Amino acid sequence: MERQHAVTLISFLLATVFAHNVLDAKPPLLFVSSAATFGPSLICSRIPGLSPEQIRICEEQPTLINCIRQGYKEAAKECKNQFRNNRWNCTVLGQSSDFDDLAIPGTKEAAFAQSMVSAGVVYTITRACSMGNLSECNCDREKWGQNSRKGWMWGGCSVDTGYGMNLSRRFVNGRHNTHDAIYLMNKHNNKAGRQVLKEKLVLECKCHGLSGSCTTRTCWKALPSIRVIGERLKEYYYNAVRVSVITVDSNRGPKPEYLVLKSEKSRKPDSRSLVYANDSHTYCVRDIRLGIPGTKDRVCNVTSTSDDSCDSLCCERGHDTHNFTEVTQCRCKFHWCCQVRCKECVQNVALKESLEIECHCHGTSGSCSMRTCWQALPTLRKVGLILRQRYEESARVRAYKIPSRYGRRDAFLTLNTNGYQKPSPKTLVHVDYSPNYCERSAGKRITGTVDRECNKTSTEEGGCELLCCGRGYNTHEIVHKWKCNCKFHWCCYVKCKNCKERREVFRCK
Ligand SMILES: *[C@@H]1O[C@H](CO)[C@@H](O)[C@H](O)[C@H]1NC(C)=O
Ligand SMILES: *[C@@H]1O[C@H](CO)[C@@H](O)[C@H](O)[C@H]1NC(C)=O
Ligand SMILES: *[C@@H]1O[C@H](CO)[C@@H](O)[C@H](O)[C@H]1NC(C)=O
Ligand SMILES: *[C@@H]1O[C@H](CO)[C@@H](O)[C@H](O)[C@H]1NC(C)=O
Ligand SMILES: *[C@@H]1O[C@H](CO)[C@@H](O)[C@H](O)[C@H]1NC(C)=O
Ligand SMILES: *[C@@H]1O[C@H](CO)[C@@H](O)[C@H](O)[C@H]1NC(C)=O
Ligand SMILES: *[C@@H]1O[C@H](CO)[C@@H](O)[C@H](O)[C@H]1NC(C)=O
Repeated sequence: MERQHAVTLISFLLATVFAHNVLDAKPPLLFVSSAATFGPSLICSRIPGLSPEQIRICEEQPTLINCIRQGYKEAAKECKNQFRNNRWNCTVLGQSSDFDDLAIPGTKEAAFAQSMVSAGVVYTITRACSMGNLSECNCDREKWGQNSRKGWMWGGCSVDTGYGMNLSRRFVNGRHNTHDAIYLMNKHNNKAGRQVLKEKLVLECKCHGLSGSCTTRTCWKALPSIRVIGERLKEYYYNAVRVSVITVDSNRGPKPEYLVLKSEKSRKPDSRSLVYANDSHTYCVRDIRLGIPGTKDRVCNVTSTSDDSCDSLCCERGHDTHNFTEVTQCRCKFHWCCQVRCKECVQNVALKESLEIECHCHGTSGSCSMRTCWQALPTLRKVGLILRQRYEESARVRAYKIPSRYGRRDAFLTLNTNGYQKPSPKTLVHVDYSPNYCERSAGKRITGTVDRECNKTSTEEGGCELLCCGRGYNTHEIVHKWKCNCKFHWCCYVKCKNCKERREVFRCK
């Protein structure tokens, strides 16, 4: 069993093996079943990430917020799926709330994210309506019993999108309601998202008749899968059009009033296209302030020529780094009951992490108007420093045993706290407490600290107090002699003086 101090070295040399995705522990949502005990304003104002307008809507109908949140979450999930191969992959650094914006406002990516969220909220509300979960809405039975021209009859529970559309419009537009270019853009894209949902509603039918003969059919409108909406919006994303804002004078000064196409001034954008106002970021480099994780460590496809190609995804920083950074997904699955099956994955995380970007400037007289960059190996010192830091933060783990055909066996590591929590792939882990390393013990391969040189004045690591484990220290006087002030004399000898320095050295008893 490795001990803490050995861990640094061992993980330096060996790969670390972790079980991923097991029992992913996320904190539970605080939720609205408590509506009866706390007033709506208390609940709504405590939800992180809501704008004042959204808090107001929440307070009107506090029971709906859970459903709206679900819409945001399903939209974010679909966004991640649609953009899994793109540089921007819908991941937001430092996101603190389900209701946070997923992209940099004004960009094409924001156009997609907004429209997706907008459709997602209509989606979950409408779904709840037709399941009878909301008192405010239900199925659309207006055409019940009427025959269609194609011979079937309206029946079942046609979705009634009206309520969800209205609520989504108010809530999602209420995120950013200063009347500026971003507001106009979001408003447009939110509407596009809602329209795509409506456009993609599907007809579902059921046969009636003797022994499945389908002599009569009843049909109703149903929601499509959210995937279908995501795919459609992704197409719109690729064809998004750039707009600029027309400002008109009002009695309170100039005010952004409507959007026009950037290329054909004064033409209004089509209500179904996604629009954007600002160029996209490259999304290449990590930028915490903008919530961009960067594409370092993303898995790219060498043979692909589209978004997930290594050239595009790695922003020409290169990808040959994969030689020493095996990037593999380990998909662990828990099989009922009780087995965990994983693929082993080998990563040398610290090395991968400290890969550095080196650049050369090009341009007239060193102006650096153009740069070419590539990924380079870090110095071993740098890797060492990172691992030293990790050593300080090393986590104690234990093996989680599961029954198998051959009896209980160690299956994966879990943090040595309550519950099962897998250690992060970056943490160093150890299973035993460290000894104090004070006394020599050949069997345990500990050299002890006797005779170690120590610093008399320091109270930290390296100080005699700590290093000598309270045994005290001996003082040695060392005389250091060397040749100095050497001069070359013509011809041909060198004459030096003898220099000498006395120095005190402290060694542990
Ligand atoms: C409707 O309510 C039931 C029972 O509370 C719940 O299981 C279901 O998930 C809800 N459906 C939606 C779409 O909210
Ligand atoms: C949308 O909802 C608001 C508040 O419930 C209501 O006042 C308004 O009439 C609704 N609009 C539509 C078009 O249904
Ligand atoms: C984004 O576009 C808006 C409106 O066109 C402009 O005011 C703003 O400065 C732009 N922001 C960036 C970061 O380019
Ligand atoms: C998106 O990219 C980030 C940063 O490279 C990465 O950590 C994350 O796993 C990616 N997300 C998905 C869904 O692929
Ligand atoms: C990489 O791209 C090629 C060409 O587009 C494709 O055939 C292949 O399936 C991709 N590989 C992976 C692992 O996605
Ligand atoms: C990576 O591996 C390939 C094939 O094994 C080899 O041609 C290439 O030189 C290696 N690159 C580095 C940086 O080691
Ligand atoms: C000993 O420790 C003191 C205080 O930390 C420090 O200033 C000094 O440079 C150290 N001496 C040596 C020889 O490292």
